This record gives sequence, C-alpha cells and structure tokens, in this order.
Amino acid sequence: MDLRVPETDAAWSRLQAAAGRASERRIADLFRTEPDRLARLSVSAAGLDLDLSKQPWSLGDLDVAIDLARASGLEAARTALFAGEVVNRSEGRPALHMALRAPPGAGFRAAGAPVSPEIEATRARIAAFAEAVRSGDRRGAAGKPFRAVVHIGIGGSDLGPRLVWEALKPLSPAIELRFAANVDPAELAQALTGLDPAETLVVVVSKTFTTLETLTNAETARAWLRDALGARADSQLVAVSAAPEKARAFGVPEDQVFAFWDWVGGRYSVWSAVGLSCAVALGFEVFEALLAGGAAMDAHFFQAPLEANAPVLLALAHVFNGDGLGRRVRAVVPYAQRLRLFPAFLQQLEMESNGKRVDAQGRPVAHPTATAVFGDAGTNGQHAFFQYLHQGTDIVPVDILAVREPTDGDPAGQRKLLANAVAQAEALMIGRSQDEVGAELAAAGRPPAEIAELAPQRAFPGDRPSSFILLDRLSPEPLGALIALYEHKVFVEGVLWGINAFDQWGVELGKTLAARVLSDLEGGPPGAHDPSTAALIARLKR
Ligand code: F6P
Repeated sequence: MDLRVPETDAAWSRLQAAAGRASERRIADLFRTEPDRLARLSVSAAGLDLDLSKQPWSLGDLDVAIDLARASGLEAARTALFAGEVVNRSEGRPALHMALRAPPGAGFRAAGAPVSPEIEATRARIAAFAEAVRSGDRRGAAGKPFRAVVHIGIGGSDLGPRLVWEALKPLSPAIELRFAANVDPAELAQALTGLDPAETLVVVVSKTFTTLETLTNAETARAWLRDALGARADSQLVAVSAAPEKARAFGVPEDQVFAFWDWVGGRYSVWSAVGLSCAVALGFEVFEALLAGGAAMDAHFFQAPLEANAPVLLALAHVFNGDGLGRRVRAVVPYAQRLRLFPAFLQQLEMESNGKRVDAQGRPVAHPTATAVFGDAGTNGQHAFFQYLHQGTDIVPVDILAVREPTDGDPAGQRKLLANAVAQAEALMIGRSQDEVGAELAAAGRPPAEIAELAPQRAFPGDRPSSFILLDRLSPEPLGALIALYEHKVFVEGVLWGINAFDQWGVELGKTLAARVLSDLEGGPPGAHDPSTAALIARLKR
C-alpha cells in the first residue's frame, strides 16, 4: 500500500491559506462569530473528552483540514492499517498493535496471515504467569514468593510499561516494580538496591534481544541473582522478545520466554507481552482493562467519520499549528502527577515515529514533519517553563491533560489541580492586555514612566492555542484509550506527511559509532575519527 497519495498539493495550499488567515485574528473572537464552535470542536471517544476549540482554526479551516486528510488518502490508509497490510514498507511489515488489544475472536491478519489466535494464546500465558506469581504458586529459586519485579528494557521496551506502572500502581504495592533502561550502571544499581534477590523476578524486554543497554543490564542483573542464589537463579529470569531463541540462549527458561512479533513496533508494544511486568505487578485484570481501553479507541478511530474522530482532529490541530503556522515545538502537560511520564512516552512515540525528512518512497518530504514535544506534570511545569509558554517569542501549542476524579490524596488538592489546568488554558488563550495592566498600575498610583516600562513586561499576549483532554478517572481503560489516541494521532500525521511512521532508521548510526568508540576506549585498534572525537576519546582513555 502506497501511503502517499498524489494530488494533495491543492489541499495543502488551502490549508496554508487558511492558516495565514488564522494568524490575522484571535482565537477568542471565533467564539463570538461561531456559535456552534464549542460543540463542533468537542469530541468524546472511549471515555475521553477532547476540547479543540482553543485552537486557532475556524470551523471553515477545520473543513479545509478535513479535506486535506481525505485528499491524503487517510480513510484508505486507515483501512490498510487495520487490514494488516504492509504499511511499514522499509521494514516490509504491517503495524498491527491494534490486534494486541482486540477482544477475543477479533480475527486480525498480518499481511494475510491470521494473528489473533497466537495473540490470545500469549495473552492466556501472561494471565497464568501473572496469577501464579501474584498468588505465590510460582516462587523464586529459594522457595520464597516474589516481592519485586525488575523490568529491564529501553525505548519502547521501557517507556510504555513505566508509564502504565506510574499511572496505576497502588500506594503500597504487594509486588514492587522497578525499571532499568539506561546503560549507565547507576540506574540498575538504584533499581536493585534494597531488593532481596531471592524475592526478585528479572524481566528482560527487548524486541531484538541485541540492544546494548538491555543486554548489559540483563547480564548485570543475572550476575546479581547468581551471586546470591547460584546457577538456579536463572529460574528467576523472564524474557519478552520477538527473537525468543536469543532469549533462550541467554539462559531464560523456555516456559518463561514470552514472544511478540515483528509487526509490533517497539513504541507500540506495551499491549503485548512487553506489558508482562505490569500484568504481574498490577494484576492481569488491570492489564486486560488497559487493553480494553485501547480497543475502544481503535473502534472509535476506525468507525468515526473524520469530522468527529478524536485522533484525526488532534492530528489536524497539530498539523495546522506545525505546518500551517510554523509552530515547531509543542508542550504536553498532564495535570496528574501519575501521568508525569506521559511527555517522555510521547517523545518517543511522536519523534521516533515521525521525525523523518523523506517520504515512504525515499523522496524529500514536501512539508515539515514531527515537531519537538516536551513537557512535565502540571502544576510543576507552571513553575518551570510556563513563563516561556505565556510570554516567550515562540508560540507553543499545548496539550493539557486532566483527570476529573482524584486518584489519591485530598480531594481539595485535586480541585486546585483542576483549577490550574483550566485556568492555564484560559490564560494562554485570553492573555492580559497591556492597557489592562497599565490601568491597574495607574490605579495603584504608579507614575507614567514606570507604567511604560512595566506594563509590557507584565502583559500577556494570549492567543496561544491549547487542546484539552479530560479523563474521568485515571483507571486502566481511559489510560489505554489515551495511549491509543496518541498512537493513532501519530499515524494520521504520518499519512498526511506521506512518511512511514513505523520505522526508525535514524537511531542506527549512533549505535554503530558507539560500538566503534567503545572498542577504542577498551584499547582496540584506534578507529578513524574526526579531530574533535579523537581528542575526546584520548581524554577519556587517560
Ligand atoms: O531507540 C531505538 C529502538 O530501536 C526503539 O525503537 C526500541 O523501542 C528500542 O530501541 C529498544 O529496542 P529493543 O526492544 O529491540 O531492545
């Protein structure tokens, strides 16, 4: 399937013209001229409520953006994605993460071959394993029940499970889940500190089972187990991989190797056995509910018309800002401490998927692709980078996420949190004029010279766009829906830009060069390097 449909130039030109007009008016004014603006730019899907009315588009611009999506072949591309066609052309694979979260009997096919039975069999194994560990039926080599799981993996083999655990973990978990991703030994050392090897399960997650960071940490963790328990310690190793033979060769017992498949992209893999650690530490029913939330968003994305389709509208708002208005940075601020890892998760999902400069046919892209995304939990971010959002020279669209019901702690604190989420969206759009600030200063008796100096510094230009995404509660279903919402948003953008959102060739060169530099640092034959790199290596070898 060729994801790039020609003849989209006219639709892009119309989008750019619409964005040009948008830059000459204020968002807030559109509420006066468009009585049904809020209704048309609000959408509910799979338990999430999105409000995209604080974006710079008019309802006419929205129609233009939808036309662009249609002209780009989005509907056909969506059909191809769900049909398991080879949408990841450069790697010759489908991208079928939706099959992983589908209810039993879904009948998904990857490049024509049925995959649902194997998925369901693996899911049953995950359920049985999680239950056995949680009940104490499955114990460590010394006969002790497991009290901790150390999850070793990086990138897509880390960020999703880490996000899910942080979002859903009990305040006093029966089984503690810790993570080690970085090859910096400090992270694994911290993860292992205080744990009893006899009560610890080590789950090694790597699609390829060749990743330097993961294998290094896995070897260290295995040595930590063996030091305490001897060779029988290997019974406490679990692996999740699309290369199960490599996991077995590493010493993981056959019945503790969980497979996933090459058509599962790393950053789309939390729904597979990559989520095993979460199933163990949170309970399989929690993991299953997460899958159900993702599946509900899939159903919405697949069926809803583009005009009322949450991932489509979220993507179009992004494209309107990024391509139409040249806003190349976006902030994501979850007003929920338990979602503080969401920006880090999105960095990989969005920038590894869509940080591409050539299209799926290898031609230079016609339009700029992924923007940078950054963020932190609200309200913390307000005391860090919000100054830049409100008064900086760049206009940075913001995705504001909020959760209506409190998760833990004092409900009064939750109200303050929500008040801040809503107020920031309002402040970004409405701003505060220099005249208003000046009048206030004058009323306070400040002299005109001081007002002239202070008022511009204390004014807020406003007209800064945001999308607001509200979850009723931070339970597994809405969390699953939220993750799937952004997965599909990324797919929609990839279709508009004509790029392959499912490969990541840009991470390869650094890996290759790191292996060469490591060989130099370890005293191997000196490689050819530029003078700056050679000097750094020489300095590190001293
Ligand atoms: O960062 C590059 C990458 O290939 C990601 O796409 C992937 O999620 C990560 O490395 C980990 O890869 P693996 O699961 O094969 O260890």
